[in-house]
Amino acid sequence: MSETLISRTRAAFESAFGAAPALVVQAPGRVNLIGEHTDYNGGFVLPCAIDYRTVIAALPRADRLVRVVAADYGGAIDEYSLDAPIERRDDAMWANYVRGVVRELQRRGLPLTGMDMAISGDVPQGAGLSSSASLTVAVGRLFATLPGMDALTPIETALAAQHSENDFVGTQCGNMDQIISACGVEGHALLIDCRSLETRPVEIPAGVAIMILHSHVKRGLVDSEYNTRRQQCEAAARHFGVPALRDVDPAMLAERGAGLDEVTFKRARHVVTEDARVLQATQALASGDLARMGRLMAESHASMRDDFEITVPPVDRLVEIVAGVVQERGGVRMTGGGFGGCIVAVVPEDLVEPVREAVLRDYRAPGGEQSTIYVCRAAAGAGVVSQ
Ligand code: GLA
Repeated sequence: MSETLISRTRAAFESAFGAAPALVVQAPGRVNLIGEHTDYNGGFVLPCAIDYRTVIAALPRADRLVRVVAADYGGAIDEYSLDAPIERRDDAMWANYVRGVVRELQRRGLPLTGMDMAISGDVPQGAGLSSSASLTVAVGRLFATLPGMDALTPIETALAAQHSENDFVGTQCGNMDQIISACGVEGHALLIDCRSLETRPVEIPAGVAIMILHSHVKRGLVDSEYNTRRQQCEAAARHFGVPALRDVDPAMLAERGAGLDEVTFKRARHVVTEDARVLQATQALASGDLARMGRLMAESHASMRDDFEITVPPVDRLVEIVAGVVQERGGVRMTGGGFGGCIVAVVPEDLVEPVREAVLRDYRAPGGEQSTIYVCRAAAGAGVVSQ
């Protein structure tokens, strides 16, 4: 874990509040290996937490005041009382992520006390690597250290973080990003059943690297397109008379899908086939079968491109360049909500440099930038770093 990030956050705390923090917590961002837009359909996902995170240095207070300094936003301080209604701020979006979690924990009747905190992070923002989930989960994890907070288990922390983003910040996300940030296991991906909330760690085989490559495509219209996809999935589930597309299998889709309009049918087909791919990919990864993992990731990408229509041409191009190097030895696909952002590759370590070379040589974003490339370790979920 990055010592510089921790010491930078401690220093920000000391200069804002003139005292030393009592503890430091962290929560990671994530990359999703497979299972896109399945979480809000009650389905399966296979993400891993990454070694890029939000860090909070904090000191619990004896009174009811919350003071938050954002080290990455020029040291601005947000201050409020736990005894007054917590409102949204229009002038500081970062502050709302913290406020939303504090309000959600209060709504759950949890015994909060005041807190001073300094926040910093190194999860790339706007890249689709869940910097916001890492922030909300870190805030939840911090309050979970207070006495009387036993109910705030990692899963409950994740759900509180998700609800705060849905209700307070206004993002209609599913539960994947927060669950993996709260529950990630070092060296493992996590199979998450987004309905039952059961999780199962799946070891990343030795000698396998996880590469994240940023397309630097500006993600426009993300929220409206995301919400449209959700509505289309809900409409499809209503057509089949089930609570969510999780309950539709390929046979049902083939038999009764004809009654859907073409676009809604394609959306449903993506989700139904993607759920099946996640379960197969879990087996493939667990048995170290990277060739099979690669085929499933390729099918996932094609399904996102052709049926769910959430990729964009530069992202398709970036995937093609990587696939050209990797061949049958691993896999590559777009990761995250879509319309830009990052792709993920699961490859033997000896392919990291050849992939990097090919991408730096052959890929340019629409604005002319090269891809930014991260080679990640599957990290542990949120936790206390030092006390
Ligand atoms: C975003 C959302 C997640 C999930 C993905 C798509 O990251 O926050 O809940 O729906 O998109 O898989």
